[in-house]
Amino acid sequence: TRTQDDETLPHATKRTMADHLRRLETLFTLTPQRLRMITHAFRETLDLGLEKKEQVVPMIPTFVFGWPTGQEKGDYLAIDLGGTNLRVCLVHLQGQGKFEVTQSKYRLTEEQKQDEGQKLFDFCAESLKTFIDSNSGEDGILNIEPGQNLPLGFTFSYPCRQDSIDHGVLIRWTKGFGAPNTEGHNVAEMFQKSLDKFELPVTLTALINDTTGTLIASHYVHPDTRIACIFGTGCNAAYMEHVKDVPKIKDLGIDGDLDMAINCEWGAFDSFEHEHLPRTKYDIIIDESSNKPAEQAFEKLISGRYLGEIMRLVICELIDDGILFLGQNTYKVEVPNALDTALVSLMESDPTDELLMIIGIMSHFFALETTLAERQFLRAIARLIGRRAARLSACGIGAIVGKMGYLESGCNVGCDGSLYNKYPGFAGRIQEGLVDIYGEKARNIYTHHAEDGSGVGSAIIAAMTKARKDAGVY
Ligand code: GLC
Repeated sequence: TRTQDDETLPHATKRTMADHLRRLETLFTLTPQRLRMITHAFRETLDLGLEKKEQVVPMIPTFVFGWPTGQEKGDYLAIDLGGTNLRVCLVHLQGQGKFEVTQSKYRLTEEQKQDEGQKLFDFCAESLKTFIDSNSGEDGILNIEPGQNLPLGFTFSYPCRQDSIDHGVLIRWTKGFGAPNTEGHNVAEMFQKSLDKFELPVTLTALINDTTGTLIASHYVHPDTRIACIFGTGCNAAYMEHVKDVPKIKDLGIDGDLDMAINCEWGAFDSFEHEHLPRTKYDIIIDESSNKPAEQAFEKLISGRYLGEIMRLVICELIDDGILFLGQNTYKVEVPNALDTALVSLMESDPTDELLMIIGIMSHFFALETTLAERQFLRAIARLIGRRAARLSACGIGAIVGKMGYLESGCNVGCDGSLYNKYPGFAGRIQEGLVDIYGEKARNIYTHHAEDGSGVGSAIIAAMTKARKDAGVY
């Protein structure tokens, strides 16, 4: 016989899920007022980083001076040690904003990220050797004469203190890397050692950050670009600053009329102090169980390395509370980092009424069956997490835009990375956030999908550097 409880159970479960959703909405939603406060604090932090050395947000002078002309030409090799992959490319710059790229990608293992630093650079050099060997010869695209060296740009997307374009001391690893004997070392020199070991016909001409490369590559194609952002495994931005407005490099005697790209390393905003960003208990768990607790506070709320895990922690909490997946074996979803951010973005973008894609994801990856209500709930959480990340990103962009006076003149922001490119509505939500911060005039600020910064950008920077050297300037 059916009891009273049987009648009311589904209803009660639903209501509790709705309660949870309301709670999570409050936790993850940032009001316009809050966005404005964060932007204000962000701007002060950026100014402090330009003024004084050794700040948490280090505002790194990159020694990339001014914009490309768009006429840079030639063949350049580029190697990009990113958060997830190692990429080797040959870039053929044709001028007039045109280029061709040939590339190979190698996935990095979690072990490699923790192994001896020199071994990591050996792996880079070895992959470069494989690329050069397999593209050389009669039918190859690479034609290196004996005794000739090709210029090589090294995109190393971690914070490095630079005092020239081909030198950089790693301040700290980010994005889960932890290779020993690398922090505090000149990584250009370490990489050169590996290049020598494999006797490669290359000259390391520039060490660059992915954001700086993106800034330059984006400008090569869209000359109204002023800022570049990466929303990928990590999150960061670069922009072009007037040398005279960077007090901390006054003593270098660089011509004050020049402009120089600044790699903000804004992922570190609010690290250690945790004064400005609204962290939830899930964010705190992620931070405390990361290999670098208290660091990269802003990045941990935004980037692809963490969003999947935030959602997984929410799911696990609701499993523990007896709300989700009742009576099922949930061990697969309880494994740390089991939920990739790519799946979160897929869940949010499910176009079907029945949320069939979410059925597929939950059963394929976690052996879980879902009710429609559970799937709607999952999609709602994915939306909250993605929206928060985009709106926080708007605060960073808003800080640069406000500081540089681009609200009046308008500007284009070149963006790259898996979140920007794949997370549904990410760009629109950044725009929405900017409007919440600055009102309608924020519509003068556009984001666009940037050109490949770490390949093309590094080639253009190599070409710009060569031109400056040939002309005998700094
Ligand atoms: C991390 C790195 C930074 C990089 C960003 C995006 O924040 O510290 O250098 O630009 O990830 O890849």
